[in-house]
Amino acid sequence: MKDVLVTGGAGFIGSNFVHHLVAHTDAHVTVLDALTYAGDRRSLAGLPENRLAFVRGDIADSALVDDLVAGADTVVHFAAESHNDNSLAEPRPFIDTNVVGTFTLLEAARRHDRRFHHISTDEVYGDLALDDPERFTEATPYNPSSPYSSTKAASDLLVRAWVRSFGLRATLSNCSNNYGPRQHVEKFIPRQITNILRGIRPKLYGRGLNVRDWIHVDDHSSAVLAIVERGRVGETYLIGADGERSNADVLADILRLMGRPDDAFDFVTDRAGHDLRYAIDWSKLRDELGWEPARRDFDAGLAATIEWYRANEDWWAGSKEATEAFYRSVEERHER
Ligand code: NAD
Ligand code: TYD
Repeated sequence: MKDVLVTGGAGFIGSNFVHHLVAHTDAHVTVLDALTYAGDRRSLAGLPENRLAFVRGDIADSALVDDLVAGADTVVHFAAESHNDNSLAEPRPFIDTNVVGTFTLLEAARRHDRRFHHISTDEVYGDLALDDPERFTEATPYNPSSPYSSTKAASDLLVRAWVRSFGLRATLSNCSNNYGPRQHVEKFIPRQITNILRGIRPKLYGRGLNVRDWIHVDDHSSAVLAIVERGRVGETYLIGADGERSNADVLADILRLMGRPDDAFDFVTDRAGHDLRYAIDWSKLRDELGWEPARRDFDAGLAATIEWYRANEDWWAGSKEATEAFYRSVEERHER
């Protein structure tokens, strides 16, 4: 692995992965990112110039993608439209980027016979009942609920087909909910932290009973690197860290760590089609590759994340108003 093309490297997980890759390998990294509302060039600040090239462009631009894939030995594909609430309001960009964009990358990787790793989500499996003793495994049938998760499922199936039909040297990973620095303020944890910093009351969908399986983004990065380096071609690996928590519990932690009363939040209308619970069995990753999550102390990770948002207001301030305006428009639509 000498020349790695990272798509979506200016987004939340992609940028954290690029920092991880530069710190833990000698690889040269080229980031391809369209800098949509979710991408931020500043998330790659501080990296040595001789280790990183940045290209602004669309993963569905086949001429550009062909050129960049030809110049790399490995492609790690993070770029996506990533937010469920946006996918309910306007699904089209999810088709264009998650499905057509992934197809475009796969065709280039096939033409040039490049090693490909596809980043996906546990949401492709649908949801679990709150009291279900089972967790998702690599064998769980696909059953996505939203435009976001269905386009991610579609992209996973394309990758699997390119492995089987064309012999593409690809691996896939499906990870649970990430948290940590540089996550867009539209997502649950940063939205509530920045609401509190701005004097806005946090917002909990429905009754806050939905469960997510939280993993620190650094653990996602180390798992992806392990799969890219040692994973078996054609295989899927689930990534998680035993971090199941209800949204109400996560919000209670945020309020406590930020010194607010435990009732200083609002219940708001539930998300349409809201998945109840996700939970990951990551034993394949442990047993095959010896990977373990290193940051399982959720309280410590959350406290560090809160500190990051406190210290980096200039990073998020520019997106906060537009994000809250979007959420107001969703609420207004519910009221009509
Ligand atoms: P993000 O929205 O923070 O970042 C996405 C990045 O992709 C942005 O930098 C954006 O500019 C870029 N992008 C979007 N469309 C593009 C296009 N057409 N061409 C080039 N670049 C484009 O997303 P994230 O939360 O960092 O998620 C990254 C990946 O991880 C996604 O594939 C997502 O499905 C997956 N994932 C996310 C989570 C999570 O908790 N956030 C969990 C599991 C898997
Ligand atoms: P989110 O960060 O959007 O991730 P995902 O939909 O991929 O799980 O949301 C995490 C959980 O938090 C989800 O159950 C929806 C809920 N949620 C709220 O309760 N309030 C909010 O303001 C947001 C954005 C999400």
